Amino acid sequence: MSATSSAPQHFLADDDLTSAQQREVLELAAALKADPFSATPLAGPQAVAIIFDKPTLRTQASFTAGVAHLGGYPMLVDGTLAQIGVRESVPDTARVLGRMTSAIVWRTYAQSALTEMATHAGVPVVNALTDDYHPCQILADLLTIAEHTGGLAASGPALTGRRFAYVGDGANNMAHSYLLGGALAGMDVRIGAPEGYHPDPEVLARAAAIATSTGAQVSVHTDPASAVDGVEVLATDTWVSMGQEGQKEERERPFRPYQLNDALLSHASPSAIVLHCLPAYRGKEITDAVIEGPASRVWDEAENRLHVQKAILAYLLGHR
Ligand code: NVA
Repeated sequence: MSATSSAPQHFLADDDLTSAQQREVLELAAALKADPFSATPLAGPQAVAIIFDKPTLRTQASFTAGVAHLGGYPMLVDGTLAQIGVRESVPDTARVLGRMTSAIVWRTYAQSALTEMATHAGVPVVNALTDDYHPCQILADLLTIAEHTGGLAASGPALTGRRFAYVGDGANNMAHSYLLGGALAGMDVRIGAPEGYHPDPEVLARAAAIATSTGAQVSVHTDPASAVDGVEVLATDTWVSMGQEGQKEERERPFRPYQLNDALLSHASPSAIVLHCLPAYRGKEITDAVIEGPASRVWDEAENRLHVQKAILAYLLGHR
C-alpha cells in the first residue's frame, strides 16, 4: 500500500479522474478482481456510509460486498428514514457522517446535493448515481470492454480507439457518463438518440474538450444505424430513468426506433459486444434475443461493479 497525493478527493462525476487516473483505477480493479482480498485499506473495520434515495440492487450489493472485501464495515443508511435535505440539511448530514465514516457513497437525485455533501463531509464522497451521472457504472463498463476487446492499453488512455455506441435516452445519466468516461478512455463515443433527448450541451462540450487531449471522438446521431455503424461495443439503458416514471407513456414512441435488437446489432462489427447497466426492460430498449444472445456481456458488466467500486474506494483512500 502506498499513499498518493494525486488521487482526487471525491468521485462525483467521471471527469473527476484524469485519463491517467482512470487507467490506474481500472488497473487496480483488474488486480482486485484477480486477487479479491489483497487490499484492506478499510481495515479496522472502518465504516463507509452507503445511502440510497432511489431504488437499488446491484449498487447496494456491490458496495456492501466491496466495503467488506476491503476490510471495512458497510453502514447502510436508509435514505427514506434519513430524508437528507428534508429532515436534516445536506451539510449537517455530511458533517455527522464524516465524523463516523471513512467514505460516503450516495445515490440521489440532484448532482448539486452530492457536491454539497462532498464540500462538507471531510471524507471522500462517491456518486452511486445521480440524475446527471453514473460514473461507477461506466468504470464497470470500461473494465468489461477491456476484458472482451483486447485488454487495457499499457499507457495512455485506457481504451484508445475502441468504437462504442450508446442508443436510447441521450440526455440521461448513463449517456452523460459514457461521453465523459469514454472520452477520458480515448474511445470513439457515439450517442444515438431522438431529437429532444440529446445530451446536455454542457456535458457534450466537456467531453469534446477531453477528447482533444485524449484522441477520443464524441458524436451525437439521430439515425440509430449510423450511430452503431461498425462499433465494437453497443450499449443501451432504460428509456425511463428513476424519477421519470410519470413520463413513461410519452417516452415510448420516440425511443422505439432506438431499440437494441438484432436488426440494429447487424450494423455493428460482427464481433460486437452488448452492454446494459440493468435493470433491463426486455421488449422496450433491448430485446430478449439480444440480452440473452451471444453478444451480451451484461452479467460480466454487473459483476465488474464490485471490482471497480472497490478500486475507486481504495484509490480515493490512498491505496494503489
Ligand atoms: N438511467 C437509469 C440507470 C439505472 C442504473 C436510471 O437512472 O434509472
